[in-house]
Amino acid sequence: MTDWQVDRLAGALGAEVRGVKLAGATEADAQRISALLSEHMVLFFPDQHLSTDEHVALGRYFGELEGHPELKNAYMEHPEIFELAATKGGIADEWHTDLTFLERPALMSILHMVKCPPSGGDTMWTNLCAAYDGLSAPMQELCDGLTALHDEAPHNRPDKTMIHPVVRVHPDTSKKALYVNEHFTRRIVEMNATESDVLLRYLTQWVQNPRFTVRYRWREGTIGMWDNRATQHFVLNDFDSERIIQRVTVMGDQPQGVGAPKWRPWVRPGPLSATSRFDRQLYFHLKSQGRV
Ligand SMILES: [Fe+2]
Repeated sequence: MTDWQVDRLAGALGAEVRGVKLAGATEADAQRISALLSEHMVLFFPDQHLSTDEHVALGRYFGELEGHPELKNAYMEHPEIFELAATKGGIADEWHTDLTFLERPALMSILHMVKCPPSGGDTMWTNLCAAYDGLSAPMQELCDGLTALHDEAPHNRPDKTMIHPVVRVHPDTSKKALYVNEHFTRRIVEMNATESDVLLRYLTQWVQNPRFTVRYRWREGTIGMWDNRATQHFVLNDFDSERIIQRVTVMGDQPQGVGAPKWRPWVRPGPLSATSRFDRQLYFHLKSQGRV
C-alpha cells in the first residue's frame, strides 16, 4: 500500500487525497476509499483525468451503478455516466441530496470535473449528521418521529413522489442525519400544510449553516466522491463560461429512520376547500400506497 496524503479541508467534513491513481484502482484501494469516506463524507482526488471507462470501473467497486432517471445522455457510450454541462442549463444551485425522490436514493456519487471555469462554480457540501447533532433535544425528538414527502418537481415530474424518514440512520456509522432538502422535499407527512412549511423551511435552512459545510474549488481532472446518505451539496452559480461534469451514481438502499413514524399521516378532514390544493399531492401519494 502506497502512502496517501489526506488533508482535511474543513471542521465539518471534506478531505483532499493525493498519492493514489484512481485509474486502475484495486479492491484494496476501494476499501481504503470507503473508510476515508465514512470519516470525511466527501473526498477530492486532484489530477486524475479518468477516461469514462476508468470512471465507470471505479464506481463499480462501490455497488450497482445507475444513470439519471430523467436526464439521459444518449450520446455517451456509457448509460451509467450522467453528464451535466452548465452552458446547457444544468446548475444545481439549490441544496440537495441526489435523487431523494427515489425509493432507494443514490448511496454515493462520483464526479469527474471535465471542464471548469478559471474561477467560480465551486461546490459546497454540508454534513447532515452535524446538522442533526446541532439541534436541541426537543427538536431532535420531534424530527425522529416524522417522515417527509419528496418529489421530482425540479425535473418536471411532481407526480413522482416518495416518503422518507426526516431523520435517517446511517447504515455504516449508525449516526443520525437530517434527511430533508430544499430541492426535493415538499411536505412533512404527519403535519398540516402550514406547520410543515414552517418546520421544513427551518430544517432545510439549518443544514445550510456555514459551520456544517465545506466549499471546494475545482480543477479539471479532479474526482470528487461523496456519501449521499449523510450530505447535501450546492453549486455556486457565479460563472458564465463552460463547466462540464460527468457523474457516476452508486445506487443505495432504502433510508431507515429511527423507528416507525410516531404519528399517523395528516389527512385533511371534511369536504374539499380552496386550501385543499396544499394537501392534494400528499393525499394522492398516500392513496397510491393504500394508506388512506
Ligand atoms: Fe447533485
